Amino acid sequence: MRVPLFAANWKMNKAVAETAEFVTQLSELLVAAPGTLGTDYEVLICPQSTHLSTLAASVGNRPIEFGAQNCGTAKSGAFTGEVSPAVLKELGCNWTLVGHSERRHIYQETDALVLSRTRAALAEGLRVVLCVGEKLEERRADQTMQVVQAQLSILKGMNASELSHIVVAYEPVWAIGTGENASPEQAQAVHHSIRKWYATELGDKAANSLRILYGGSVKPENAAQLLGEADVDGFLVGGASLDPVVFSNVIKNGLEFRAPGV
Ligand code: PGA
Repeated sequence: MRVPLFAANWKMNKAVAETAEFVTQLSELLVAAPGTLGTDYEVLICPQSTHLSTLAASVGNRPIEFGAQNCGTAKSGAFTGEVSPAVLKELGCNWTLVGHSERRHIYQETDALVLSRTRAALAEGLRVVLCVGEKLEERRADQTMQVVQAQLSILKGMNASELSHIVVAYEPVWAIGTGENASPEQAQAVHHSIRKWYATELGDKAANSLRILYGGSVKPENAAQLLGEADVDGFLVGGASLDPVVFSNVIKNGLEFRAPGV
């Protein structure tokens, strides 16, 4: 059984002072969601790293996960501007994103760097949301799966325990922040291919338990249809995760379509 995961990627938005109120409101709103938070579905919030202590305190013992948007390639050392995965763990994080398209395309992060970040995160016991996805010209040139498989290939050689700590987020670059989401059929086709690639390269067990999130202009209006697809196991949400009402509606609409535990 794959528990749906709803991840909020706040990117470089929000003041630290907005964190506590967001958590309070979101928790209250989710009382009306179908199923039990933390059991039937999971929620993960990824703010700027500067917000994590405040977020940890705001979450308290609520079953809400929090994590970073990126993580350093080593436990410590001369890496100016980077955030140590050991310190993320110290702050109570269980998760980090890696390979987000903004990291790949604005900051030229390569697959090799994404691999080293992933390894460092796993070594500290963090779970990793590995983001993959093609650019518009790559989709037009029919290279979507080629691009996605190349990005996934950093996972080859990982053991079962490492793989159990990985979630893949499929985020077509052309859908991120554009208001134009992939259609449920387009998302399902790529998610299905990702699971097939996993089965071939990493084994059936890893493939069946892998959670594949969709990201790119997810909103309350498209959540139900997207989560209704068989291989869509949750979302990575940018813009629509900034307002607790909107984010909770993404979660509720998604869950109402997909009965808990399916
Ligand atoms: P968006 O961003 O929901 O604003 O399109 C998604 C993401 O970049 O993770």
